[in-house]
Amino acid sequence: MHKAFIETQFPIARLSAQTYRERKGASSQILPSLGKWWGRKPLILVRACILGMLMPASDDPKKDREIFLKILTMDNDGTWQRQKGEIPLKEWREVAPIEIQNKYFGSRGFRKGLSEEEKESALFEIWELLDQYQREKLDRKRKRPVPSRELFDSMPFSERIKECERPENLNGPSAESWDEINSYLGTGAKCLSELIHELGQRTFGKTPRVGDVFSGGGSIPFEAARIGCDAFGSDLNPVAGLLTWSGLHLIGGGTEIQDKIKKDQQKAFCAADRQILEWGIEHNAKGERAEAYLYCTEVKPPGCNYHIPLSPSWVIAEKHQIIVKWELVEGQHQLQPIVQAVDPSEFKLYKDKKGATVVDGRVVDPLDSTRTWSIEALRGPQGLRMWAKEDVCPQRHDVFQERLYCIRWINEKGERRYSSPDAEDLAREAKVLELLSERLAEWQEKGFIPSKAIPADGDKTDEPIRTRGWTHWHQLFSPRQLLAIGLISSQLDRHTDLGRESSAFILLGILSAADFNSKLCRWIPHLAASGGIGAFAQTFYNQALNTLHNWGCRSLYAMRTTLCGIPSLSTRIEENTCKTDVRDGRDVEEVCDIWITDPPYADAVNYHELGDFFLAWCDKRLEKIFPYWPTSSRAQLAVRGSGNDFKASMVEIYRRLSDHMPANGMQMVMFTHQDPAVWADLGMILWASGLKATAAWTISTETDPGFKKGNFVQGTVCLVLRKREECEPGFLFDIYPMVEDEVRAQIAIMQSLDEESEPNFNDSDYQLAAYAAALKVLTQYSSLDGKNVSDEVFALRSKNEKSEFEQVIGRAITVACDALIPKGLNDSWRDLSLIERYYLRAVDIESRGERRKGMYEELARGFGVADIKPLLKSDKANGTRVHTPSGFGTSLLAPIDGVVESAAALPRRGRASASGPHPFAASPLRHLLFAICETAVADNDPNQGRQYLRDTFGQTYWGRRESMVRLLNWLAALGNSEDTADWAKDSEAARILAGRLRNDDA
Ligand SMILES: C[S@@+](CC[C@H](N)C(=O)[O-])C[C@H]1O[C@@H](n2cnc3c(N)ncnc32)[C@H](O)[C@@H]1O
Repeated sequence: MHKAFIETQFPIARLSAQTYRERKGASSQILPSLGKWWGRKPLILVRACILGMLMPASDDPKKDREIFLKILTMDNDGTWQRQKGEIPLKEWREVAPIEIQNKYFGSRGFRKGLSEEEKESALFEIWELLDQYQREKLDRKRKRPVPSRELFDSMPFSERIKECERPENLNGPSAESWDEINSYLGTGAKCLSELIHELGQRTFGKTPRVGDVFSGGGSIPFEAARIGCDAFGSDLNPVAGLLTWSGLHLIGGGTEIQDKIKKDQQKAFCAADRQILEWGIEHNAKGERAEAYLYCTEVKPPGCNYHIPLSPSWVIAEKHQIIVKWELVEGQHQLQPIVQAVDPSEFKLYKDKKGATVVDGRVVDPLDSTRTWSIEALRGPQGLRMWAKEDVCPQRHDVFQERLYCIRWINEKGERRYSSPDAEDLAREAKVLELLSERLAEWQEKGFIPSKAIPADGDKTDEPIRTRGWTHWHQLFSPRQLLAIGLISSQLDRHTDLGRESSAFILLGILSAADFNSKLCRWIPHLAASGGIGAFAQTFYNQALNTLHNWGCRSLYAMRTTLCGIPSLSTRIEENTCKTDVRDGRDVEEVCDIWITDPPYADAVNYHELGDFFLAWCDKRLEKIFPYWPTSSRAQLAVRGSGNDFKASMVEIYRRLSDHMPANGMQMVMFTHQDPAVWADLGMILWASGLKATAAWTISTETDPGFKKGNFVQGTVCLVLRKREECEPGFLFDIYPMVEDEVRAQIAIMQSLDEESEPNFNDSDYQLAAYAAALKVLTQYSSLDGKNVSDEVFALRSKNEKSEFEQVIGRAITVACDALIPKGLNDSWRDLSLIERYYLRAVDIESRGERRKGMYEELARGFGVADIKPLLKSDKANGTRVHTPSGFGTSLLAPIDGVVESAAALPRRGRASASGPHPFAASPLRHLLFAICETAVADNDPNQGRQYLRDTFGQTYWGRRESMVRLLNWLAALGNSEDTADWAKDSEAARILAGRLRNDDA
């Protein structure tokens, strides 16, 4: 079988950079504009993977790579051409034949009345009529941000593409590039879809069909279809089904469909808007319209004779320095909000939480801050009253009441003001409640607003129930939110001519409105959001359902952009080339040539729980639009967790996929989890499903390559798999050396890429790559030391017992750790013990901003160090740091005669035994650190430190001297890194001590 390009190489560096640009351009991403889903895969990555699986590898890897980049418009020519910057219209006009000039141009530009599409097609027509020379000449007129090609080409790729159109938004390479691509591949394509067809024809005898059974937000089928593959996407969750279907059929549906959708959206919105106007619930007597309503909870603690409104901050709008103060009004049990602008010095105090009434889980009396009450205690020993299904606001005796305290108004001139609600506003609030109450039962019945109970046993769904007593999904919304969104939803029934497309799209708008307008939407007053006039966060700004004491509610008017508009696409996806389904991956019946999947990672996102929030808003509507789809989340079928159920469902699904592809078919599994145990499981699962890994590439999918911090998923490993047709037995004895070679080779490739251009990978990427390399070796075999893989996946093991597979993976990590020598320590590495290497690597990753405890623990596993606590200054989950020399002081320092003669004599495992000291205590490196500390204490007089080393090492001092100088020089550089700034003093001492040792002669 011929190898595919992706089985031999993949342009990781450029792809990582390009993927990052796609992630960064959040507002211009096409699919996320359809609605929220978690873990969407970047389209450029999907495009590259499909092309990499279809393009054959030749024996000229360099040329293969060149052509592959050309197809992606990520070669130098393609990147230059993608550089944004218009060719002035007068230049187009000048080169256009006279009849085109007359048809499209007036004296000063395009003729009046031309649509954007007509303009675009005019330019296309002109371009097509030009020969190569004329095109180049015209292209030189483009007003590019970096006008010099030479300068542009000399810039790092990640810099260049900042000025470029993203490749996934383009239809493919230029005509000139196609000539080169075709002559190399022996094809005759003029566009991507033709190339896809030809390559598919060669391998599969037809246009290739790409499928995804965990389609989620639909990236994989969408991009596959857009570049010309036949596509299939399905997901267990109907909301994911709706998103996948809409990407293919609505965004990809062409202008006719999109124009109708736009009209229908407007129609529905305007009808709802007219109703709101008629009810008079968003307008005031001054003719202003409300944009934002701010609500908070309030409580009446024992011994307090007024309600205390709750919020951790009372800042409303940083731009205008607006805050809320609270006043007691004689004879009233509620405090009165005073919304006002304050001077900068007072505003600063409010920004620093002045007047906050929720501090560290306690309620603070705004009129007497010495009086505080624990929120937990206020909930009472029995917990809160559980809301009944018909409750849409708190009952009189509930612990947490809800109140409106501020409204942002806008007038016809676009001027805004903030005010506390007056009597008329409160009357409008009462009217909203009344209007909703009149409609509640009917609207719930018809599915215009949610009626379902919140699952009580979920990890995330438990929070609203426990912290507020909300038992049903609609209780996560205030009456005003329910009334406005429900009103839009009711239009779906009122306008019978909407058709499936418009109904589906309006429904998506309703789901987005729910995401952006619930009681879980924080109010953001900072300058960074909407310029500081106050903005709304979305419900799912994180993957939880955290309740709030203070939230923002949008008026219908403020939801208009969420409810109207559809992004357009230059490529039309043919209706009959793609299919969407809602079903369990185990039941899939479609056959695909290529399966690309991104399974739910063990415990990473609770899709079935979070998805239920949306499903509650659309289940009854979906039934009408897609009568054949199930409309419940069927949570019990969701792949989740990491136990045997997870493994069993995954094996079943991947076996099925393997059965539903041809013998020469391929699969790609995208996977991001960093826990080695999960990796070991995934390996076993794929192995047991009859697949073998043929390549693995780590792409930075989440953050800026080279600048990765924080505790979020970073690299995505793309595992390329084929059916394992042979039944070759494997033996650990042979496999270990093969794994070592593969891991080293994989790391060497990544390191050379890091050196070739800017850094692409961080430590976790290297570790992921090591797991993947181990997988590549292991999955070639059908059994391991006579043991059947399927039996091994489900074998019951005691807590600390590791499968052989896990052991091989563990070995791979050790090899990887050891292969990753901090820059500048190459010559010293061999002589260091494992615990010393661990310390230096830990300092090394700290100097590059790594703070996640998991990474320090993972390294410890790799180096076989069992007890890292004594080496750490802090072991906070996201703030882990290693001790500096001065930080150690004299702790963890063995007596002088405890020094071992050579690193080899140190224990191989870094565990402090009950009887002996921690192995680091007796290591030469530890003594060197102590000497640094001594030097620093002596105001950088190195003599005391030097004497300490001479006393400690005795005669061996001279033999060690050179290596100590190297280490000191390395440590001396740490003070220069911002991330190890606390090393400054010790680094300086190290530098001076190194000089003293270097010149030591007696
Ligand atoms: C990581 S997400 C996929 C994201 C997707 N690749 C994208 O780009 O948006 C995993 C998906 O698997 C779905 N899922 C979970 N269990 C499933 C099952 N048994 N069958 C099919 N889909 C399932 C979840 O609903 C979720 O949408």
